[in-house]
Amino acid sequence: MGQVRTAKITEPDDFIVSLAQTLRRKGCQAVLDVGCGAGRNAVFLAEEGFHVVGVDMSPTALELALGKAKSKSVKRCVFVKHDFLELPFPDAHFDAAFSCYAIENMPMSEIEKALSEMRRVVEDDGLILVTLHSPKHWRFGQGKEVGRNTFLVLETIKGKTVRFTTHFFEKQDAEGLFQNLDLKILSIREQVKVSDKQRAHWVVLSQK
Ligand SMILES: C[S@@+](CC[C@H](N)C(=O)[O-])C[C@H]1O[C@@H](n2cnc3c(N)ncnc32)[C@H](O)[C@@H]1O
Repeated sequence: MGQVRTAKITEPDDFIVSLAQTLRRKGCQAVLDVGCGAGRNAVFLAEEGFHVVGVDMSPTALELALGKAKSKSVKRCVFVKHDFLELPFPDAHFDAAFSCYAIENMPMSEIEKALSEMRRVVEDDGLILVTLHSPKHWRFGQGKEVGRNTFLVLETIKGKTVRFTTHFFEKQDAEGLFQNLDLKILSIREQVKVSDKQRAHWVVLSQK
């Protein structure tokens, strides 16, 4: 945990570009990016006029994010170093929160904790968008199975061995997660991208 795996991708996700339209339509202003990494989505939304806070525990990622915001002269964006399992914000502080490819890299119990923290810090009726791994992802089945649809992988990053435990969601699993947390699913879409390997995620938009 805490490692940056995708710092090379610099453009915002297409579903974040769509989210910007939804946020604008609903009059949202304050938006939280959970596990913001190098800030591609946070900076894009700030350029679109939203007040964005990005939270991440990696100083390297936050430095890149800050550099990106500065290079684009974006003012409405701040970055906070913190563990997203305990968000350092009061209840109902944001109009919306999202997490792309971040809270998904954990076992189910921690994903639930991260999502419940996101729920806590958005206002009533606030929007929450997250990505979750689908079993169609190439990583499904890699490493050691440590629970149902949950795999432990050891990776060497910059000479250090890092442990990643990932839960892969069947569609019903994902729906159950949101129901358990009293979040209403507005849309759930499976995104499958094939380049060198197949990457498959659920993109779930929900409302508190
Ligand atoms: C795969 S990157 C995705 C970054 C960004 N959301 C994006 O789509 O470009 C995952 C990010 O989550 C952060 N992260 C992982 N676990 C975390 C935790 N418990 N608290 C805060 N950040 C965490 C990592 O440091 C990393 O920057």
